[in-house]
Amino acid sequence: MNGIAKLQPTPLGLGCWPLGGDQWGRQDDRDSLATIQRAFEEGINHFDTAQAYGRGHGEELVGKALHPVRDKAFVATKILYMPKEKVEKEVAFSLKRLQTEIIDLLYIHWPKKGGDLAGMMEAMERLREKGQIRRIGVSNFSVAQMQEVMKAGKIDVHQLCYNVLWRREERETIPFCRQHGISVITYSSLAEGILTGKFGKEPDFAPSDHRKYTLLFEKEVWPKVHETVEKLKSIAIEAKRPLAHCAIRWLVAQDGIVSVLAGSRTPDQVSGNVKSLEGTIDQSVFRAMTAVTDDFAPFIPDAGNIFRWYP
Ligand SMILES: NC(=O)c1ccc[n+]([C@@H]2O[C@H](COP(=O)([O-])OP(=O)(O)OC[C@H]3O[C@@H](n4cnc5c(N)ncnc54)[C@H](OP(=O)(O)O)[C@@H]3O)[C@@H](O)[C@H]2O)c1
Repeated sequence: MNGIAKLQPTPLGLGCWPLGGDQWGRQDDRDSLATIQRAFEEGINHFDTAQAYGRGHGEELVGKALHPVRDKAFVATKILYMPKEKVEKEVAFSLKRLQTEIIDLLYIHWPKKGGDLAGMMEAMERLREKGQIRRIGVSNFSVAQMQEVMKAGKIDVHQLCYNVLWRREERETIPFCRQHGISVITYSSLAEGILTGKFGKEPDFAPSDHRKYTLLFEKEVWPKVHETVEKLKSIAIEAKRPLAHCAIRWLVAQDGIVSVLAGSRTPDQVSGNVKSLEGTIDQSVFRAMTAVTDDFAPFIPDAGNIFRWYP
C-alpha cells in the first residue's frame, strides 16, 4: 500500500504532547529530540503527536527526529474539528512539519458539538484515497458520534483516555469499538504521571503546566486519588515492579487495546517506561489493581473527560 508496507504500531507508543513545549511547563527541545530518538532506539515505533501540541512545534520535532528512519516509524497526528473544505490544506501543513508524504494515522482530535463530523470524515477518506494518510482515527468520541462518522467512512482507531484510575470508557465506548473492529489506543495511560506514584499529598505544578486544572488533581478529588495510588503502590511493591510498569501492563492486558501511549519528557523516562514490557506480571496483580479502582470509581465526578473540555 502506498509504496511502503503498512506498519503496525508497537504495543507501547511515545506520547509527544509534553514535547510540544507549551502545556506541561518548561520543556527543552534538545530533551524532546533525545527522547524521541531514545524511544526509537529502544524499539518503540509508534509516535503520537497533534497539530495542537505546541501549535505545530510538536509535529516539527517528531518530523525532525524521525526523518532519518521515517519508513520504520508509525507516525500519528491529529487535527481539531474544522469544516470539510479546510481539511486538505491543514493536513498539508502537518505533512510538511512531519517531513513526510504520508501520515500513518490521522485522527479527528475532538468532536465538535453541532459540527459536521460526517463531512470531516468524508474529507479524510478523500485524503486516504489520495495516499496522504493510511488510517483514520477519532479521539474522545461518544458512541453516537462514532456512528455518525461511520456513515461517511471507516474508523480504524479510537484514541481515548483510559488507565486503571479512569475507566469510564469501559461502559460503552470500548465495547462498541470491540464490536465494530475499531482498534483502541489509550492516552493518559499513566494518568498524567499519577500512576508513577511520584506525587505526594499536595502536587505542585509550574504555571504553564495544564495538570493543575486536570480533574484528578482537583483539590476535592486528589485526596481520594492519592489514597488509591498508595493502595496500588502496595500491590506493585508485592509484584516487585514499579507502579508505572504495572499500570502500563494493566492496559496492555485489556482486550482490544492495540497500543498504549505513555508520554515522556526525557530519555530516562522513556527507558523506564520501555522496561515495563519486560518480564511477566501475574494476572492476579491486574485483578488486584482492578479491585482497588472498582472501589475508587464512585468518587470520580462524572465529568465526561479529565479536562472538563467540551468543544
Ligand atoms: N487524544 C487526546 O485528546 C489526547 C489527550 C491527552 C494525551 N494524548 C496523547 O497521549 C499521550 C500520553 O498521555 P499524556 O502524555 O497526556 O499522559 P501520561 O502518559 O499519562 O503521562 C505523561 C507524563 O507522566 C510523567 N512520566 C512519564 N513517564 C514517567 C516516568 N517513567 N517517571 C516519572 N514520570 C513519568 C511525565 O511528566 P512529568 O515528568 O512532568 O511529571 C510525562 O509527561 C500524550 O502525550 C498524547 O500524545 C491524547
